[in-house]
Amino acid sequence: MNFDKYPMAEPYKIKMVEPLKITTQKYREQAIKEAGYNTFLLRSEDVYIDLLTDSGTNAMSEDQWAGIMLGDEAYAGSKNYYHLEDAMYECFGYKYLIPAHQGRGAEQLVSKTLIKPGQYVPGNMYFTTTREHQELAGGIFVDVICDEAHDPYNENPFKGNVDLNKFEKVIKEKGAKNIAYITIGVTVNLAGGQPVSMENLRQVSKMAHENGIKVVLDATRAMENAYFIKVRENGYADKSIKQILREMCSYTDAATCSGKKDFHTNIGGFAACNDEQDAITMRSLVVVYEGLQTYGGMAGRDMEAMARGMLEACQDHIMAHRIAQSQYLWDKLDAAGIPIIRPCGGHGVFVDAKAFYPTVPQEQYVAQSLAADLYVHSGVRSMERGIVSAGRDKVTGEEHKPKLETIRLTIPRRVYTQSHFDIVADSIIELYSERNKARGLRMVYEPKALRFFQARFEKIL
Ligand code: F0G
Repeated sequence: MNFDKYPMAEPYKIKMVEPLKITTQKYREQAIKEAGYNTFLLRSEDVYIDLLTDSGTNAMSEDQWAGIMLGDEAYAGSKNYYHLEDAMYECFGYKYLIPAHQGRGAEQLVSKTLIKPGQYVPGNMYFTTTREHQELAGGIFVDVICDEAHDPYNENPFKGNVDLNKFEKVIKEKGAKNIAYITIGVTVNLAGGQPVSMENLRQVSKMAHENGIKVVLDATRAMENAYFIKVRENGYADKSIKQILREMCSYTDAATCSGKKDFHTNIGGFAACNDEQDAITMRSLVVVYEGLQTYGGMAGRDMEAMARGMLEACQDHIMAHRIAQSQYLWDKLDAAGIPIIRPCGGHGVFVDAKAFYPTVPQEQYVAQSLAADLYVHSGVRSMERGIVSAGRDKVTGEEHKPKLETIRLTIPRRVYTQSHFDIVADSIIELYSERNKARGLRMVYEPKALRFFQARFEKIL
């Protein structure tokens, strides 16, 4: 039998289950109202199918759980740290590892190490915490992603690519000395989990290095990106995910990584680099902000789970199943004519909220409103990725108005089955048929930083 034809079939079996609570629509109406129409403020036990995020919500393997029992909780020099260092080198190939409690901890270390106040930091679209740390370190973010990324319906297979002309223009206009580094996110979360091609990484690296600019990879979902290179880019079909990943990293000088995604772990992260001086600076910061350089805010057991998860996730068939789950949901919604970001990305399916609810203006937080309605309809939790997530310009105070206004149906790894995805699809299809009932929201509480996590809303009736 040719198992390649069945990528959806789980490459694992279920040993332990977590019961789910089924609630009524009336119950959920009250729950979302109390949560200020913000799905981040719901209680997890009131959620049926949780597609808020793929971050830390993944199911670990028996090997990872076994590793948890082997935690060496010494303050200094834990053996789990050395396992993690070896695994990171095997998968990513960077010389120096600086552990952190999660991705944003690593972002703080890299931003503080490499940015001088007033410097520019080009990147292929922003990620919320990444840009926040760059700005807190005095950097000015400049978006250099290709235009296709902002168009939900453009079918380019590598919509995460950097537009080299835009990058060149930033270098010419601002001067290479005024550029701290360029960040490349692989895949690009807010563009819909869209990958970057190897060709593009190679060219960006060449242009950056010719101008003495460092390249920092946001390696959070780099294994998923490697899978897309394998199946979408010429010349990579016969290479393993690990080989592709090592080549991707070879074009970069440093990385930040949230360990809560690709590695199936519930917590963890790291920064890595090849420059000894950068490693020394980051190690002097890690002890202040995260913990000693051999744990960086993680327990020994968490480092062990991450080391094992990293090596496990790097296998081709694991990644094929992972992406097949996203593709299954994407195909069902596409067949029903639901407006979704094309083509299918890595960690989830992104619904184009502006096209889904054409009567609700962006200023009334259309994606936020759709996420709340989906929860009320079926207990499915998604996340707004639009104007609320984009926040305000630090200088003018104006709201950023991103072209993409989406809800993200994010797929935790190894957690849900095909029948759960059928329910998600059916719920969205029903909601679409009732779209003329849609109402916008008014923001009644706005936190200063990363407002999407805690903002509260009321329904405009
Ligand atoms: N970079 C990317 C591309 C991310 O998606 C995330 C987290 C981070 C950095 C920060 O990592 O959460 O470990 O501190 N993304 C989560 C999400 C929160 O839901 O997409 P972290």
